[in-house]
Amino acid sequence: MDKLEDMSSVYDFDPITGNIPATKVEITVSLCVLYTQGVETKQWREFGRTEVIDNTLNPDFVRKYILDYFFEEKQNLRQMFCTLGEIVGSPASRLEKPLGGITGKKCGTIILTAEELSNCRDSATMQFCANKLDKKDFFGKSDPFMVFYRSNEDGTFTICHKTEVVKNTLNPVWQPFTIPVRALCNGDYDRTIKVEVYDWDRDGSHDFIGDFTTSYRELARGQSQFNVYEVSNLQVLFHSPVTLLSFSVESEFTFLDYIKGGTQINFTVAIDFTASNGNPSQSTSLHYMNPYQLNAYAMALKAVGEIIQDYDSDKMFPALGFGAKLPPDGRVSHEFPLNGNMENPYCNGIEGILEAYHQSLKTVQLYGPTNFAPVVNHVARYAAAVQDGSQYFVLLIITDGVISDMAQTKEAIVNAAKLPMSIIIVGVGQAEFDAMVELDGDDIRISSRGKLAERDIVQFVPFRDYMDRTGNHVLSMARLAKDVLAEIPDQFISYMKSRGIKPNPAPPPYTPPGHTHHHTQI
Ligand SMILES: *[C@@H]1O[C@H](CO)[C@@H](O)[C@H](O)[C@H]1NC(C)=O
Repeated sequence: MDKLEDMSSVYDFDPITGNIPATKVEITVSLCVLYTQGVETKQWREFGRTEVIDNTLNPDFVRKYILDYFFEEKQNLRQMFCTLGEIVGSPASRLEKPLGGITGKKCGTIILTAEELSNCRDSATMQFCANKLDKKDFFGKSDPFMVFYRSNEDGTFTICHKTEVVKNTLNPVWQPFTIPVRALCNGDYDRTIKVEVYDWDRDGSHDFIGDFTTSYRELARGQSQFNVYEVSNLQVLFHSPVTLLSFSVESEFTFLDYIKGGTQINFTVAIDFTASNGNPSQSTSLHYMNPYQLNAYAMALKAVGEIIQDYDSDKMFPALGFGAKLPPDGRVSHEFPLNGNMENPYCNGIEGILEAYHQSLKTVQLYGPTNFAPVVNHVARYAAAVQDGSQYFVLLIITDGVISDMAQTKEAIVNAAKLPMSIIIVGVGQAEFDAMVELDGDDIRISSRGKLAERDIVQFVPFRDYMDRTGNHVLSMARLAKDVLAEIPDQFISYMKSRGIKPNPAPPPYTPPGHTHHHTQI
């Protein structure tokens, strides 16, 4: 029988969907109560409290908090106010801040450290075979493949791996495959893992052969009598064995290992100043400067920038514009600094970029065409100069989408894919974004003049998909940032891995002065 309700997920395999945290981090805090803020409700919830230590001005709390860490989300924590990204992005993932409380009064400092939990960095490699599978095709045999599902907290299942199809056999031996343990079971060794076996059909109506369940803990026993599973299908009272042939676990470096070791994210912004955006003084313009509300450019910039800035220690961001005529001579530029200073294009924080953006709107003339290649090549030149893993470049392009130099842009992206660099494109306005979807390369890896991009480095989202009709921009912008940033840690790791770059050792753990407490980790 066909399991039609499951088929869409069998096709649209996307390992990113279904909120897998990038990792789990352990936070050691020197304060009594830790609060986390709900993204949706904005309400502060007590997450937990440390024990109280009497009679000391330098308390050293032993209690630790375990939080799921999402690179792409702004995870607010407080006693003193900070984000989880801020702690993680600080040198050695150790953040020191003054304690608030009474205005004008020094209340001491608080020190937070974040430590990644080890099972999140593991990847499991396993291989399966099956015997005497049910014969589904009228002529010939079956073309079997397996689909793995992780179970979620709420009892639902999320697809996490699909094997290749082995053609024309009832006794398939699938290739070994490797999967992060957090994708397989979210780091929870006893969680159910569901496996379905299908017979592949050319027309897409794959036939369900049967299924079985297991868990990481069971699989980790390796090849043994315990790892022979009955693939059963109640509809046809059929079962046959699937055998685990091998299983191994390897620990891999994670995004946080590199950040702790000092790798900096260089975040560059590029804004589309072409005439198709409309005259900024008119309310129909995508660049309209409304004193009461940010326009789409400013909103997208703020949403993504506020998360990325946690990983950039000096918070100075180069910001570029493209597609405008510049004063005094009216020459068209496709890579001009928003602050007007080519030698020093840096803006101070996200506010600084917004200020320079508004200033530019008053001085340049929106023109065209919409060329992406110059800004991509601009950032790539800097990325090419630092290939030792000490920096990773993220270029955010915000555009109304009618791209004019597709061939040059593809060439630039194929070249940039060799560099420590990722590109985020946010499309604003109502244009058709076909070209952007092509650049995104999620379905077909992009190529130029016969050369395939080495990695997928482009993530595209249309801004309009995130506009909330009820006007709840906080929530919709959090979703936008989440979607454009979700792939960055994996793209980052794919670069470091391909170049054999290991993270620097983190600086030694901090020891508070004059401290003897043996739990010293703050
Ligand atoms: C970051 O990249 C920009 C180019 O986009 C460059 O102007 C800047 O110098 C870089 N910063 C560092 C610290 O390398």
